Amino acid sequence: MSLELEAVTVVFRGNGRRPVPAVVEVTLQVERGQVVGLVGESGSGKSSLGKAAVGLLRPTSGCVRFNGKPVSAIGRRARPSSQLGLQMVLQNPFESLNPRRTVGNQIKDAMRASHLSKRLQDARLSQLLGVLGLAPDTAGKFPHQFSGGQRQRVAVARALAASPSMLILDEPFASLDASAQAQLANVLRVLADEEQVGMLVISHDLAIVRHIADRIAVMYLGTIVESGVASDVWSSALHPYTEALIGAIPKVDGRGALPIALPGEIADPANPPSGCRFHPRCPHAFAVCQVDSPVLIEASPGRNVACWLRHPDEAVRASGADGEADSDASSDEMLGRDSV
Ligand SMILES: Nc1ncnc2c1ncn2[C@@H]1O[C@H](COP(=O)(O)OP(=O)(O)O)[C@@H](O)[C@H]1O
Ligand code: SF4
Ligand SMILES: [Mg+2]
Repeated sequence: MSLELEAVTVVFRGNGRRPVPAVVEVTLQVERGQVVGLVGESGSGKSSLGKAAVGLLRPTSGCVRFNGKPVSAIGRRARPSSQLGLQMVLQNPFESLNPRRTVGNQIKDAMRASHLSKRLQDARLSQLLGVLGLAPDTAGKFPHQFSGGQRQRVAVARALAASPSMLILDEPFASLDASAQAQLANVLRVLADEEQVGMLVISHDLAIVRHIADRIAVMYLGTIVESGVASDVWSSALHPYTEALIGAIPKVDGRGALPIALPGEIADPANPPSGCRFHPRCPHAFAVCQVDSPVLIEASPGRNVACWLRHPDEAVRASGADGEADSDASSDEMLGRDSV
């Protein structure tokens, strides 16, 4: 029972505009009961990947399977019953809520689609609202009557109403305050542990995701650059981009500012840098990085990284060590880290 993405590529093509390869050959797996965090800056391709995973976007190439069966694109026809267990909460929940219907009715729609008997629907509705910290009178209100954070929780309640076994949540913590973030994180972790729901939690915020994720995949400009057990990725990042994301998280003493930790901006995916896509921003970049793109390799069991500095061939790594010596600042300074 799992969600599998195999070499999924999503290319947007507009009228006369350059094609935008937002997702490039991403392979990822989420098991039941497992929480996988997908992190990266805005523009990395996270939402496009999430939509492709649930069938809202048809991959340009590659395939997505849910419980072994190909996920078909969501069209006018009802979703096949085999896909009802796969649900997504969109990044902007307002997009997916009908402004003219009460949220209670919209949550019940999801229950009807999953054939929950009418008799049990009211009890399930109150239970879901309670779990998500929403007042009982929420059910009779319309989407515009809520704050962004409340709408986000309504959208999560509606996704849960379909009793999913796999849930994709796109930036679920984005418009919540710290206590609501902690509450939702707890709810999600309990669902994963007690009801064996698998989850792909998409977020630009590694600091939050690491608390609930079993595994973390780091995405940069359409590709996965590192993945592994969440605590390993957090404590010993292998990829310079992951190091920079961690370095950018403000510390209690106020250090860790984005401009030092992660110089420049993410590139336009329609015109990506040659070689390693991260090289214009990487303090460790050396000659080969500008020409050849590193592939994702298994650095240790379950731990993957795409960086020439982690290449198994010592000669390749050594050429990087030479190149780095030309840099003005040490890598630790560039990454806003203390030298130890
Ligand atoms: N419908 C679309 N048409 C063209 N480009 C798009 C479309 N949706 C997203 N993009 C582009 O794809 C890239 C990845 O976007 P997105 O998947 O939203 O990333 P993220 O969720 O990580 O911020 C961005 O450069 C974005 O501008
Ligand atoms: S391959 Fe080179 S540019 Fe890319 S992250 Fe590694 S060291 Fe930096
Ligand atoms: Mg997004």
